[in-house]
Amino acid sequence: MKGLVSLVGAGPGDPHLLTRAAVARLRRADLVLYDALVCDDAVAIARHAKKFSVGKRAGRAGVRQETIHSLMIRAARRGQRVVRLKGGDPFVLGRGGEEALALRAANVPFEVIPGVSSAIAAPALAGIPVTHRGVTSAFTVLAGHSPAAYEPVLDSIRPGAMTLVLLMAISAQREIAAALLTRGWAPSTPAAILFAASRDDAEAWTGTIAGLNRGEGPGDAGRPGTLVIGDVVRLRSALKDQDAIAREAAVSR
Ligand SMILES: C[S@@+](CC[C@H](N)C(=O)[O-])C[C@H]1O[C@@H](n2cnc3c(N)ncnc32)[C@H](O)[C@@H]1O
Repeated sequence: MKGLVSLVGAGPGDPHLLTRAAVARLRRADLVLYDALVCDDAVAIARHAKKFSVGKRAGRAGVRQETIHSLMIRAARRGQRVVRLKGGDPFVLGRGGEEALALRAANVPFEVIPGVSSAIAAPALAGIPVTHRGVTSAFTVLAGHSPAAYEPVLDSIRPGAMTLVLLMAISAQREIAAALLTRGWAPSTPAAILFAASRDDAEAWTGTIAGLNRGEGPGDAGRPGTLVIGDVVRLRSALKDQDAIAREAAVSR
């Protein structure tokens, strides 16, 4: 008997942003392996499953990637329905592709259930459209955790040509701002730091690249954060209140 591994995106945190497919897989799961940024309410949907946290938490190493692969493979070979629950979308800067390749190499059946990526949800929930007619028709999502990850991408973008969305970038905000200034981005370019989007402890800061470079913005307090850079950030002042009203209405429906 062969089991199935579902690589499931959990969205940015609020369980209302789980897809129906994600909820269905969680309800039927025998085993759930979940990442650190996945909220408890999402994990709790898997009432009948064994559940293990395999993610990295504040400075503590998580379970090794190879170990996660073999846990999924072994359980599926025993005929179990495994949910690998990952923050946001499994294939956006989350090593989901590596996990899919490991499952394919082991000849284990798997599927991918896309999730709402924080790359789009964090700006949207803060009232920042990543594209906007007349402002920009493109955005780039990039990893900000090391210069090797973001510098080659910045080298290929004309200053101000599109919105930049940087994940894993908060602790490097000053270096990233300096890298943009060096490449000719205007110091007055609008920027936002969006913490814990969709969660109760959400907080947003808006300023400029110059402000990022001075280290402005609230501290992360252990929260995940997303950086957004570009003229679309200006729309937040007009859209943020409307967004809060719409969300309240949706939740009470
Ligand atoms: C390893 S990446 C995984 C991204 C994920 N696959 C996705 O599509 O959202 C983790 C990063 O996503 C961002 N992130 C995740 N959840 C967030 C949230 N609720 N609010 C703001 N940023 C978030 C942060 O930049 C964090 O460092």
